[in-house]
Amino acid sequence: MSRTSKLPLLKLDGGGLLFERVISNPQELEPAKLAAEGLVSAYNLIGIEAVGVGGRDLAGGLDFLKTQAGLAKFAWLSANLVEPASGKPLFTPFISRTLGDTRVAIIGITSGQLPGLGLPSGAATIKPWAPVLAPLVAELARSHDFLVLLTDLSPAECGGVARQFPALNLIINAGGDTYNQPPKTLGPTTLLAATGRQGKYTGTLEITWSRGGRWGEGENQFKALQDKDTELLRTSKQLVEIGSQPELASQAGNLRRRQTLLQEEIEGLRTALAGVEIAFFTNTFTAMAAAVGAEPKVAAIVAQVRERIGERGRKNAMASSTTEPAPLPDFTGWRTCAACHPKATARWQSTNHAGAYATLVKKDRQFNVNCLICHVTGGEAVSTDRLATLPPELQGVGCEVCHGPGRRHAEGHEKTRPRRVPETLCRNCHVPEHDGHFEYARNLEKIRCDR
Ligand code: HEC
Ligand code: HEC
Ligand code: HEC
Ligand code: HEC
Repeated sequence: MSRTSKLPLLKLDGGGLLFERVISNPQELEPAKLAAEGLVSAYNLIGIEAVGVGGRDLAGGLDFLKTQAGLAKFAWLSANLVEPASGKPLFTPFISRTLGDTRVAIIGITSGQLPGLGLPSGAATIKPWAPVLAPLVAELARSHDFLVLLTDLSPAECGGVARQFPALNLIINAGGDTYNQPPKTLGPTTLLAATGRQGKYTGTLEITWSRGGRWGEGENQFKALQDKDTELLRTSKQLVEIGSQPELASQAGNLRRRQTLLQEEIEGLRTALAGVEIAFFTNTFTAMAAAVGAEPKVAAIVAQVRERIGERGRKNAMASSTTEPAPLPDFTGWRTCAACHPKATARWQSTNHAGAYATLVKKDRQFNVNCLICHVTGGEAVSTDRLATLPPELQGVGCEVCHGPGRRHAEGHEKTRPRRVPETLCRNCHVPEHDGHFEYARNLEKIRCDR
């Protein structure tokens, strides 16, 4: 952040690390909690400095979050998640770090705008951000050069935050899309940055900053200055190499003229930059898998978590299969349809929908109910603990996922045609977390069974 030296790396996460969404079903919550524990262990190894407490992080309950925070070697930041009686923050509101000669403050703000998030009454309250940030930002801006906010507020709300608190220089956001977003300015002094959810990606921001800077200021001159400095160094070196060899006298003359010109240009750029507070960044994204894939300890944690989730699911499935098979009176399975619709069936079998369950088996994830929910047929009609015990003809994304339960139609009772397939139905499963580039029209052509 100083003018000349690069800022040391500070590893931060905007929030919502533990859970992808608010989960109300206990059967889904159980494996999700195991995965959350794994994420905390992995972050401990990677050397994360701080994460924001996101509203989603409360999906496993306040006690679960507190336990995870206790196991973490990094700070969990929230200035507005408070104990109702005392109004005191339940987590650390902010931390300070000194990087080179730059004092950086990192603040956390938790979003209260999550559908389905039932906070344990009496245990915690999420205060509105504005009155909490007002005194905090004012105080921290006096003693720091650069202010960072970690939050899962919506990107629109972040715009409001930036307007009200221009002293915040960088907002790392976990409340928006699940895709990586290139950083963008929300005002002259505030930058918004975000990566996909749950630590699947890392974004590296290389920041050149001087206190009081406005984003983008001095960038072109600063980079031109660096280029000219490099060229001047090269020219001077060449001149030394040539020395006083008479046969190279004319070449030396050219180089000397270039040297003088460069010195003048550098002087000019230095003068132009003297009054400017330089502030710019470059950004890159890296898939976490690629960034830490070679790290065997992280890989071991991932394997261990999968093992534990599989084990738990297997036990639940065994317990269920001792009772009656899952009651699905309205569904019949694809084999029945095949008898009267051989062409459509052959078409379906050529798509990956038919093998969606086999895909899980290949990865040994067929007992994880959080995976099964989108990789089977009729999942919405049975309780979650039965998902691992469906008969083979309902494993995979079958006919009745799209055309609706078909037993009555197959038995000839239903005169009306099975339902048409609306786009919203596809999007129940083709969500950004699992399919980052779903385009209805294009994808429909690949799977429709009348082609
Ligand atoms: C006993 C034979 C039979 C079985 C079994 C059967 N269907 Fe049909 N299906 C038909 C007939 C006949 C029609 C044409 C009815 C019509 O056009 O109204 C039809 C129509 C359809 C259509 C509408 C086609 C269009 O042109 O719009 C769909 C979709 C369909 N069936 C899906 C299924 C599915 C899914 C299953 C399995 C759950 C199934 N069918 C089982 C006989 C069968
Ligand atoms: C019940 C969840 C679910 C629904 C509903 C669903 N899909 Fe899929 N879809 C999947 C899964 C899971 C896969 C990946 C299967 C695999 O690779 O094992 C997939 C794969 C696909 C593929 C890749 C197929 C291939 O052969 O390469 C396309 C295209 C697709 N879906 C389109 C659609 C469209 C269009 C709709 C709506 C008409 C739809 N899907 C509805 C779960 C679903
Ligand atoms: C919300 C629905 C949903 C859930 C939950 C889900 N999947 Fe999928 N999965 C999909 C869809 C949709 C596709 C197809 C993606 C595409 O075509 O790009 C897919 C594709 C896949 C594929 C094949 C493509 C690939 O990425 O290699 C694998 C493997 C897979 N899923 C494994 C899993 C596992 C393991 C879980 C549980 C941890 C899981 N899925 C949970 C919807 C889901
Ligand atoms: C991922 C969704 C999906 C799945 C799974 C699926 N279909 Fe379809 N099917 C479609 C779509 C989309 C169409 C095109 C008509 C429409 O939009 O409803 C279609 C059309 C049909 C038609 C009409 C064919 C025609 O020539 O007019 C039949 C019959 C049919 N499907 C039967 C089946 C059967 C049987 C299966 C299972 C073996 C199946 N479908 C699986 C989405 C699906």
